Amino acid sequence: MNYRHGFHAGNAGDVLKHLALAFIIERLKAKPAPITVIDSHAGAGLYALDAEGGEWRDGIGRLLAHDVATWPAAARPYAETLGQDPMLYPGSPLVALRLLRDEDRLIACESEEEVAEDLRFAVAHDPRAAVHRRDGWSALRAFLPVKTGRSLVLIDPPFEAADEFSLLADHLAMAARRASTAIVIGWYPVKGRQAADRLHESLRQSGIPKVLAVEFLTQPDHDPARFAGSGLIVVRPPWQFDTAMAEDLPRLLDMMDRAGTGKVRVEWLTGETLED
Ligand SMILES: C[S@@+](CC[C@H](N)C(=O)[O-])C[C@H]1O[C@@H](n2cnc3c(N)ncnc32)[C@H](O)[C@@H]1O
Repeated sequence: MNYRHGFHAGNAGDVLKHLALAFIIERLKAKPAPITVIDSHAGAGLYALDAEGGEWRDGIGRLLAHDVATWPAAARPYAETLGQDPMLYPGSPLVALRLLRDEDRLIACESEEEVAEDLRFAVAHDPRAAVHRRDGWSALRAFLPVKTGRSLVLIDPPFEAADEFSLLADHLAMAARRASTAIVIGWYPVKGRQAADRLHESLRQSGIPKVLAVEFLTQPDHDPARFAGSGLIVVRPPWQFDTAMAEDLPRLLDMMDRAGTGKVRVEWLTGETLED
């Protein structure tokens, strides 16, 4: 596999994913139940942006041009995860660990040996973290449901293979069924509408209530040859996640989108109950 997340680290897709992950962890922490985060495609954990590709410049780089104090409220938990040196960018396992409490846990799966080694180094023997060098898709079946507390699942495949949209749809539904109270997040790229709309339709038909889609598009999304941005499927988002994203993501987009061509979409794919 040629995929290296470092090339994309800190781009607008990472901003959306990590901002949502951080927001949701903060909401889960409002209750004492321990949280288990399962990160099925975890990556290396920490990225030196200067040494990587330049995509971060149009993502976190544009946000950091604004004082963090001026970022909208929904982005504050994410801001807290960024650390002292903004050029050392945290991937999803570190975003989670920087917010989780002593009683919480992270299960991080990464299939590439070298990347898993980097991740072990990045989590620095944190006793709350378990790094598994293994396939993340099968890990979801192996680790769900967790025995105690609340679980939060992030499914973030590299989208290198043609079947990853359907794998994502199937595994979002499977994870949501196996863990009936888990919050399940899946990330996807938007390049034209076809694949994203098919993913949405599959979740509408899944029989799973409370499925939200959030898209953060920095370019128009009608051209299948052009990467427009990215989206998240969130099953059972916490209370007011939808309104927070609908209010604050457009403000973030304004901070990042110099051409003014972007758009935010927040849409419930299924309601509270299947009749909604
Ligand atoms: C998009 S990156 C993950 C980024 C990370 N979640 C973050 O937000 O910082 C996808 C990662 O999945 C890994 N990967 C690819 N196929 C996998 C599989 N079947 N199981 C687990 N990891 C896989 C890749 O090596 C890559 O590091």
